[in-house]
Amino acid sequence: ISLKNFNTFGIDAYAKYFVEINHKEQLVELFKDPKWHDETQRLILGGGSNMLFTQNFDGLVIKMNIRGIEHRINHEEVIVESGAGEGWNDLVNYCVDWGFAGMENLSLIPGSVGASPVQNIGAYGIELKDVFESCEAFEISTGNFKSFNKTDCQFAYRESIFKQNLKGKYIITSVKFKLSTQPNLNVSYGAIEEELKNREIIQPNIKDISKVVSAIRVSKLPDPSTIGNAGSFFKNPVLEKNEFDLLHKKFPDIPHYIIDNGIKLAAGWLIEQCGWKGKIVGNTGTWKNQALVLVNHGYATGVEIYNLSQAIIDSVKTKFDVSLEREVNII
Ligand code: EPU
Repeated sequence: ISLKNFNTFGIDAYAKYFVEINHKEQLVELFKDPKWHDETQRLILGGGSNMLFTQNFDGLVIKMNIRGIEHRINHEEVIVESGAGEGWNDLVNYCVDWGFAGMENLSLIPGSVGASPVQNIGAYGIELKDVFESCEAFEISTGNFKSFNKTDCQFAYRESIFKQNLKGKYIITSVKFKLSTQPNLNVSYGAIEEELKNREIIQPNIKDISKVVSAIRVSKLPDPSTIGNAGSFFKNPVLEKNEFDLLHKKFPDIPHYIIDNGIKLAAGWLIEQCGWKGKIVGNTGTWKNQALVLVNHGYATGVEIYNLSQAIIDSVKTKFDVSLEREVNII
């Protein structure tokens, strides 16, 4: 089966086997099937918005479709539980419509709810970990379900235990979030403040924030339904203070943000400075409004996009002596 419609880069790669999971009991049934244990190569697919296929997948692709959103209100606190197969933005809209605050800054992020803890998705001053309560996951080797709380997940910038020690070992089936009926808005991100001012909104509510964030994303990022992409292709690099100081002397206007474990640079800026912004290379390129996003201009193969990403890594290394790390999963 072709995976073209199951990855936002729109790469025409094929899977040997493909199964859709609509209920968690189906995973238990699969586990009982001897074929499950024969097929050692498995790929868990949510929205396919963070992967690049550079070849066909010679194994079983498991597409997570478990639906359903429920909530429980306890005074100001709200616990929202969502099936892994819900679209992330559908969940955000559900919460915004009900007036549950906390994830409005994460509006319009592509992908599924089940994938959201894997790389601790984040945007506009909020990360998933800020609203995460727990998740339930199926252990591939034992067929048992296990619950993970926030500490278990070891969240960090674009990281969690599911990308590290437990990579490929669990399938997330549902996620619980802790939200609030009392908004505590985060408008610290410059672009949000600016857009609120443009719209003459003085006392924003969570719907306003959701709309403003969505508008900012639409203006900066290409829509995957028309131009294949997987959002930011690289992570923003984090340097140690002494490394950064050296770089800062050479490039005084380098954008940077102080975070817990060092100084974070803007990969998009580094890439733009190397002359890549909006550049078209064959069927591929970087987005005209955001150099951190690699795009498929039509018929690109995964290898072409991968090669472009390597050329970008090499030139950023040469100019700034900074190593960019891919954020997108390479298959
Ligand atoms: N910049 C440039 N040129 C560019 C792009 C960016 O100079 O072409 C510089 C500008 O100085 C800008 C700064 O980079 O102020 C930051 O850019 P932006 O606000 O667009 O954010 P980002 O750091 O490039 C990160 C996330 C995005 C998220 C935005 C908003 C990562 C890898 N990416 O991008 O997440 O939407 O912040 O919070 O951390 C994603 O992960 O797929 C994604 C889109």
